[in-house]
Amino acid sequence: MAAGELTDNGRARVLADGKQIPLLALGVWQVPDGPECENAVRWALEAGYRHIDTAQAYGNEASVGRALRDSGVAREDVFITTKFNPGSRDPEAEAQRSLERLGVDSLDLYIVHWPQGGPTWAWDGMQRARERGYARSIGISNFSASEVDDLLKVAEVAPVVNQVQFSPFEFRRGLLAACEARGLALEAYSPLGTGRHLRDPQVAEIAERLGRTPAQVLIRWALQRGLIVLPKSTHRERIEQNAQVFDFELTSADMDALDGLDGTGGTDRALERLWW
Ligand SMILES: NC(=O)c1ccc[n+]([C@@H]2O[C@H](COP(=O)([O-])OP(=O)(O)OC[C@H]3O[C@@H](n4cnc5c(N)ncnc54)[C@H](OP(=O)(O)O)[C@@H]3O)[C@@H](O)[C@H]2O)c1
Repeated sequence: MAAGELTDNGRARVLADGKQIPLLALGVWQVPDGPECENAVRWALEAGYRHIDTAQAYGNEASVGRALRDSGVAREDVFITTKFNPGSRDPEAEAQRSLERLGVDSLDLYIVHWPQGGPTWAWDGMQRARERGYARSIGISNFSASEVDDLLKVAEVAPVVNQVQFSPFEFRRGLLAACEARGLALEAYSPLGTGRHLRDPQVAEIAERLGRTPAQVLIRWALQRGLIVLPKSTHRERIEQNAQVFDFELTSADMDALDGLDGTGGTDRALERLWW
């Protein structure tokens, strides 16, 4: 199977290292550890999600692991991503701690959460985590095109994804093109603008015309742009609704209208303002 190829009836894609990643994930940023996170993950698995996106910085890996075990879905059928918190020093040791919290033997994907302290220093530890079997694939997040290039100059094992803020309103065309040209799949985080974009009148108009919801329209846009997409919700009916996105298509006119909402100028930067 070639990198970039879609599998599983268009629900997964082949990464540059040959591993397959489900295109739709439940994101669990800002979901408190405990019943709220466990319920969200369990409901997602029941609704057919097979990819969960957590992070060391979210403090809820233990709940993700518990929900996975309680769900009865086999470990090998679920793609688990966590992210190295670059406020700590050792990606290899931190991966081991994530495995303990999650209660799994290996991560499917381990990502440098943001390029704090520069884009390259953490990569040796990420590669070691992979060599030791703690993670099957390794990647990055919040890296601009120039930071991707800096990393690729020194990497022995290349990152296979870049997870960035991405939606019609943050349509970072330059970054998407740079990632695709360098063999990195782009993962769209905050695809609903952390809720903000759901209120946009143009998104609402398209949704109403199609008998869909604004969330479904935004998630579908990301899928049709070839992205991996990570919507977050803690409400069961929304989690279910956000997964009903493989049974309709946006026309090219609607895709163009949504593309036109971009406020980044098609940048190749990952963020307008750094938080670190
Ligand atoms: N790598 C990074 O630095 C980074 C940064 C940000 C995010 N992320 C990842 O991306 C994921 C998603 O981003 P995000 O958390 O910013 O938010 P998002 O998915 O863009 O939006 C989530 C918000 O939309 C609401 N919502 C979700 N589905 C809805 C629906 N069908 N109808 C109405 N409202 C709905 C949610 O409310 P309820 O929960 O109350 O339903 C929540 O307020 C994160 O959880 C995380 O995994 C990564």
